[in-house]
Amino acid sequence: MTILVIGRGGQVARALARRGDVEVIGRPDFDLLQPDAIAAEIVRRRPRVVINAAAYTAVDKAEDEPDAAMAINGEAVGAIARSSAEIGAALLHVSTDYVFAGDKSAPYVENDPTGPTGAYGASKLRGEQLALAANPRAIVLRTAWVFDACGANFVRTMLRLAKSRDVITVVADQHGCPTFADDLAAAALAIAADPHHAGIYHCAGSGETTWAAFAEEIFAQSRARGGPHAHVKHIASAEFPTRAKRPANSRLDCAKLAREYGFVMRPWREALGACLDEIAAGGWRVE
Ligand SMILES: NC(=O)c1ccc[n+]([C@@H]2O[C@H](COP(=O)([O-])OP(=O)(O)OC[C@H]3O[C@@H](n4cnc5c(N)ncnc54)[C@H](OP(=O)(O)O)[C@@H]3O)[C@@H](O)[C@H]2O)c1
Repeated sequence: MTILVIGRGGQVARALARRGDVEVIGRPDFDLLQPDAIAAEIVRRRPRVVINAAAYTAVDKAEDEPDAAMAINGEAVGAIARSSAEIGAALLHVSTDYVFAGDKSAPYVENDPTGPTGAYGASKLRGEQLALAANPRAIVLRTAWVFDACGANFVRTMLRLAKSRDVITVVADQHGCPTFADDLAAAALAIAADPHHAGIYHCAGSGETTWAAFAEEIFAQSRARGGPHAHVKHIASAEFPTRAKRPANSRLDCAKLAREYGFVMRPWREALGACLDEIAAGGWRVE
């Protein structure tokens, strides 16, 4: 067995399983709250590459459960990194744009200072640090605003809301790079084929947008395919308080990935079209 993916039911793990020749483990058989069992399984299976696509991803809930977030996104990653290093395997660890504070005016590059604004981002940053410290072949793949035809994500939420509302309010002052899970999976598998450079890489859809403009594009493209659509009312983040503060700017500069791995992510609008084609083919079932 060559590639072992951790995270069975998640958006990214499922995209990896659809695209690649990989083995997937996850809950309920393996829980990151018992990292020793996962570490032992990695050593037993001896993969060439481990891809960790599992995480505590409930950004707001993490504010109330910082210990659980830290255990899953931080300490467990350390155990995965140690066990993969023990068998000489490369580790691709998926991380997030939310490790940044969001106060930079340009897209973030890999060595920009981090400064998470919430418990989720802090736990993911800890995971990055533990992965890089424990496995010299660790690659941290920071992604952002992940969407897919399945799972819980912004695209499906917008389409679901549009089935029952004419107007949807969406924040217009957070800037980022929507990323199709399938494209992220393609990038991860391309790297996994020959993981010769270790370190941090940004890997998000090409281009940038705001959540409100993203919603408008979702509805424009959905409408063109005969799907649900609604009018988007732009609001400021201050008008839509959430438990965790989100970075105002979490755009990721992915030039290093292109330079060192030759992989360029496609424009997010084009990827959105591919995702909507899948959802349309499934009869717009987004509940
Ligand atoms: N979604 C985004 O917008 C986004 C943005 C930036 C970065 N990322 C990063 O991308 C990666 C993949 O995210 P995703 O969108 O695919 O997340 P997701 O759909 O929420 O999936 C998370 C996966 O982690 C698993 N998991 C959670 N707690 C676990 C535990 N205690 N033990 C074992 N498995 C556990 C879940 O298992 P169950 O299926 O059993 O629940 C699920 O399979 C994560 O590292 C995330 O931080 C995501």
